[in-house]
Amino acid sequence: MLGSGDGSPVDTLRLMTQVLVLNGPNLGRLGARQPEIYGSQTYEDLVTTCRTEAEALDLRVDVRQTDDEAQLIAWLHESVDTGAHVVLNPAAFTHYSYATRDACAMVTDAGLVLVEVHVSNPAAREEFRHTSVVSGVATGTIAGFGLDSYRLALRAVAAKVTG
Ligand code: DQA
Repeated sequence: MLGSGDGSPVDTLRLMTQVLVLNGPNLGRLGARQPEIYGSQTYEDLVTTCRTEAEALDLRVDVRQTDDEAQLIAWLHESVDTGAHVVLNPAAFTHYSYATRDACAMVTDAGLVLVEVHVSNPAAREEFRHTSVVSGVATGTIAGFGLDSYRLALRAVAAKVTG
């Protein structure tokens, strides 16, 4: 039953926009991994940053990380099935995983927002990082702002969803 339905003063249902924040391989090692490139903030800081920003934007967020390509693809399928928007840091999969790209295309083809994010700015790094096979099917990309990339991505989802 939705709400109390008995005429009591507060009988409202708020449908919140759902966002999956998905992180690919090695991002669980943030803080310890090449801090000169990725900064000193940890994956736990990333989770807190996303939850705090989502609350301020009235978004319902679920933050996850995996080193497994199949798991990441299963989560992208889940977003299509549940109608959740996606903030995705594909990490190294960005540069070569056509399977990840194809799953991302299903998300945006379903009319959902998918923002590709990066902590660093791959365009300013080694040549192999200049190619993203994901960008062409993403709604947009935000890179180079550390954990603020995630805050900006969540704002982009909120702006896009509210029109
Ligand atoms: C990254 C950039 C990728 O090139 C790299 O493989 C990562 C992290 C970033 O957030 O800056 O693992 O996606």
